[in-house]
Amino acid sequence: MPLVTTKDMFAKAYEGGYAIGAFNINNMETIQGIVEAGKIEKAPLILQVSSSARKYANPKYLTRMVQAAVEDSGLPIALHLDHGDSYDLCVSCIKDGFTSVMIDASHHPLAENIKITSQVVKYAHDHGVVVEAELGRLAGVEDNVKVSEADSFYTDPEEAAEFVEKTGVDSLAIAIGTSHGAFKFKGEAKLRFDILEKVSELLPKFPIVLHGASSVLPEYVKMVNDFGGAMPGAKGIPEDMLRKAASMAVCKINVDSDLRLAFTAATRKHFAENPSHFDPRQYLGDGRTLVTECVRHKLVHVLGCAGKA
Ligand code: G3H
Ligand code: 13P
Ligand code: ZN
Repeated sequence: MPLVTTKDMFAKAYEGGYAIGAFNINNMETIQGIVEAGKIEKAPLILQVSSSARKYANPKYLTRMVQAAVEDSGLPIALHLDHGDSYDLCVSCIKDGFTSVMIDASHHPLAENIKITSQVVKYAHDHGVVVEAELGRLAGVEDNVKVSEADSFYTDPEEAAEFVEKTGVDSLAIAIGTSHGAFKFKGEAKLRFDILEKVSELLPKFPIVLHGASSVLPEYVKMVNDFGGAMPGAKGIPEDMLRKAASMAVCKINVDSDLRLAFTAATRKHFAENPSHFDPRQYLGDGRTLVTECVRHKLVHVLGCAGKA
C-alpha cells in the first residue's frame, strides 16, 4: 500500500469517536519505534515532519525511511508537514511525496491567513494532497519560537466556520488551551470544550486537530529526574481530557514531547545503569523500545484507534 492521505482516516475517526495519532519524527529509531507500535496495535498512523526536523535529518532521508516503514508495515500511513510556514515549503514537501501538509499562518491576521491557506489548498488539491491549517494561537515552544501565555489566544468558532468555508481546507487546528512543549500548565489543566463543541456545531463532521497534546507522562518525567535529568514542573494534558476530545470532533492528536521524553528517559537510564557502554545501538535501541511502549499506550488508551487500520 502506498502512503495515504488523511481523508479516509479522518472520516472513519469522526464516525467512530476516536482520533488518529500524529507523531513527530526526526530519526530512524523514532520512526521504527512508532511504526512498531502501529503494527502491534493495527493502527493507522500519521508521521509528521517539522521544518527543523527537515533541516536536522535532510528531507530525502526522512521520506525514504517513511516509505520503508510503509513497505515494512503495510499500515495506512500519511506523511505530513507539521507547521509549514510558507507556500514554498508546502509545495516542496508535496513534490517530495508528502500526502498531507499543514500551512500554519495563524500568526497573521485572519484575511492574510485565509489568503495564504487558500493558495496552498489550491496547489495541494491539484496534486491529490490534503491540507491542515490553524486558527487561534497556542502557547509554548515550537520551532524555537516561544509564544507566551499572554500572546496566545483561543479560536473564535464563528471565525473558524468562515475560515473553512473560504479556504476549502481539509482539517483545522484550533486553540482550546493546549500548548507546545513539556511545561504546559502551572496550575490545573483546563481545556475549553465549549469552544470545541461550538466549532463542531458550526462545522458538522469536519475534522479538528489538537496540537500541543502530549500528556508529558509522569512516569517518564520521573525516570528523567531519577537518572540525572532536571525537569521539575513538567506537566501535560491529562489523558481523560484527550479521550474526551477524541470522542468529539478531534480526529488528529499531535504528539512530540512525549516521544522526546520517552527516548530521553530510556537513554538516561541506560547510561546510568551501563556507564561503560559506547555502542549507540545499545542506548538508541532502549530509546526505540520505550517509544514503542509510549505509542502503544496512546493508541490503545488515549486515541482509541487500535485495531482501526
Ligand atoms: O509543534 C512543534 C513540534 O513539536 C516540532 O518541534 O520544530 O522542534 O521539531 P521542532
Ligand atoms: P507536544 O509538544 O505537546 O508534543 O505537541 C506537538 C505538536 O503539536 C506538534 O505539532
Ligand atoms: Zn504543533
